[in-house]
Amino acid sequence: MHPILEEFLELWVWPTAPGAGGAKFRRRITEEKCIPGWEGLVQSTVRELETGQGAGEDWKRRLALEGYAAEGVQFSIKQMSAQLMSINLNDQARWIDIQRMRARQVWDECKHSKLHVDSLSGHGWIKGERELMGDVDANFQPLSAYFGQSMMFTHIHPLARNAQHYFIEAGAYLTICIYDQMVEDLLVRHQHLSQKAEELMHFMEGKYQIDTYCTTPETQNAVEETLEWVLRFFQGRV
Ligand SMILES: [Fe+2]
Ligand SMILES: [Fe+2]
Repeated sequence: MHPILEEFLELWVWPTAPGAGGAKFRRRITEEKCIPGWEGLVQSTVRELETGQGAGEDWKRRLALEGYAAEGVQFSIKQMSAQLMSINLNDQARWIDIQRMRARQVWDECKHSKLHVDSLSGHGWIKGERELMGDVDANFQPLSAYFGQSMMFTHIHPLARNAQHYFIEAGAYLTICIYDQMVEDLLVRHQHLSQKAEELMHFMEGKYQIDTYCTTPETQNAVEETLEWVLRFFQGRV
């Protein structure tokens, strides 16, 4: 296992609040499904950086365009509004904590798109963000499970999205840790390091919600089925 993943598991994954009803379920899906996925992601990021770094500067430009497409204002607002709408009006009071965490994430992710703009403009590839509106590469990402469950996804349950938070956001954090270790370019470091704590927090949101609320077969199935779906897309890419 890569040391970065090992450290992440020790510090953030295994600790569990006393009495957390969903902890046993989370441990099982972590061991069976998430760890193999995280390991694959870490290894593929290392490989991409090793090959990309020897191939000039263009990988940095593509990376920033992909990042902008995946976390940009348009994409984030569409995805996050879909999450907010997964909770019926009558259930708003019951899931108010979830709504609050998700509303906050809209802002986090929109803000991350600025970091990709900083890298593109800092390297001299664009003069300003508006230019990106005319660039397909800055507005398209092929993995519909990235933030998962965009407007096309049927939100089967208010808790289903925790599969994405727990699995994909951890992947974002782990990837950033690899960049932190392997990349020297200050603009690329800035692009990643500035969102490190927030991606970790998005993962913790999933962890907290699974541990706290996924205590019945109904709620656990909603998360596990969604995780299966996310993994299928994810495995198609790496
Ligand atoms: Fe982000
Ligand atoms: Fe995030």
